[in-house]
Amino acid sequence: MKLKSIHLSHYRNYSNLQLELNDGLTILVGNNAQGKTNLLEAIFLLSVTKSHRTNHDQELIQWGQDFALVEGQVQTENYSYPLSLQISSKGKQAKFNYIDQAKLSSFIGKLNVILFAPEDLQIIKGAPGLRRKFIDTELGQSHPVYLQELLTYHRLLKQRNRYLKDYGRSTKFDDLYFEVLSQQFIEQAVKVIGYRTKFVQDLARLAQEIQEELSGQKDQLTISYDASHSRLNYQEIDQLAQAFTDLFAANQQREKDQGVTLYGPHRDDLSFYLDGKPAQFFGSQGQQRTIVLSLKLAEIELIKELKGHYPVLLLDDVLSELDAHRQ
Ligand SMILES: Nc1ncnc2c1ncn2[C@@H]1O[C@H](COP(=O)(O)OP(=O)(O)OP(=O)(O)O)[C@@H](O)[C@H]1O
Ligand SMILES: [Mg+2]
Repeated sequence: MKLKSIHLSHYRNYSNLQLELNDGLTILVGNNAQGKTNLLEAIFLLSVTKSHRTNHDQELIQWGQDFALVEGQVQTENYSYPLSLQISSKGKQAKFNYIDQAKLSSFIGKLNVILFAPEDLQIIKGAPGLRRKFIDTELGQSHPVYLQELLTYHRLLKQRNRYLKDYGRSTKFDDLYFEVLSQQFIEQAVKVIGYRTKFVQDLARLAQEIQEELSGQKDQLTISYDASHSRLNYQEIDQLAQAFTDLFAANQQREKDQGVTLYGPHRDDLSFYLDGKPAQFFGSQGQQRTIVLSLKLAEIELIKELKGHYPVLLLDDVLSELDAHRQ
C-alpha cells in the first residue's frame, strides 16, 4: 500500500501543503519545530482518525483557524482512492472516495499505517490506558468491526456506571433491571476480550521472534494480556461470562458504593516480560525501546497477513536510543 500524495490545510503549522510522494523512501530533513512530526501525525490521522500525540482534536487545527483538513491519495495493488478528514469544532468528517462516511469505523483502515514515534516508549512505561489505546487503535486498523463492538461496549459501560452512580445507594435500585444491564455488558465484554486476546496472541508470536533477532538472541520476550481480576481466566473464553457474573455478584456492594463497574476490558492491561522479568521495571531504556520496535515490526507482518499488503511506514526519530547492533 502506498500514499501517493498528501494535502494539508490549516493543519498545525501548515497553512497549505501539497506534497507528491514518490514510490519508495521519503526522508524529511529539517531543524527543530519545522513540522516534520506534524506531517507524520497528519498521515497517521488519515489512517486511524486520531493523533498519536494528543486526544484533543482541536489542537490539530491551526491557531486562529476554524477547521483543519487532511487529504491523501492511496494506492493499493488494484485501486487508487482519495481519503479526506476534516476537523472542526463540530467534530470529524471523513470521506472515502469523496463520499461522507457516517461512521468513522468505515473510514479507519482504508490507509494502513504503522508509526514509530518517540512517544511509543509509553506503551511500556506509561499508564495502562495507553496500552489499551495501543491495542484498540492497532486492532481497529486491521479489524474495523472491532471498533463498533468497542463502541457498543463503552456505551453499555457508561449506562451501567450511570445506574450504579445514580441508584447504587438508593432504595429505588431495581435488581432485575440491573441484572439485564449487566448481562448485556458481560456479553459485550466477552466479545471485546475475544478480539483483544487473539490480537495479542498473534502479535506476541511475531514480536517474540523479532525481539530475539534484534537483540542478537539475548532477549526472550513474552507478552500477556492481563484481566482486570485474577478470577477472570481469559484462556477459558467460553466460561468467561459465568466468571464475570460470579465476580459481579460477589462485589455488588462495592460497585454500588463506588458507583463504577470494577471489572472488564476497560480495566485490562498488557504486560511485557524479558526473560520472565517485567520489562516496565527491569528493562533498560534500550531494551524497552527494542520491545516497542519488535511490536511495531510484528504489526507490519500482521497487517500483511490479514490484509495482503504491507502498510505505509512512518518513522520519527526512533533509532537514536539503540546501540549499533540493534539499529
Ligand atoms: N495548532 C497549531 N497551529 C500552529 N502551529 C502549531 C500548532 N501545533 C503545533 N504547532 C507548531 O508546530 C511546531 C512543531 O512542529 P513539529 O513537532 O512537527 O516539529 P519537528 O519538525 O518534528 O521538530 P523536531 O525536530 O524538534 O521534532 C511547534 O513549534 C508549534 O509551533
Ligand atoms: Mg519531531
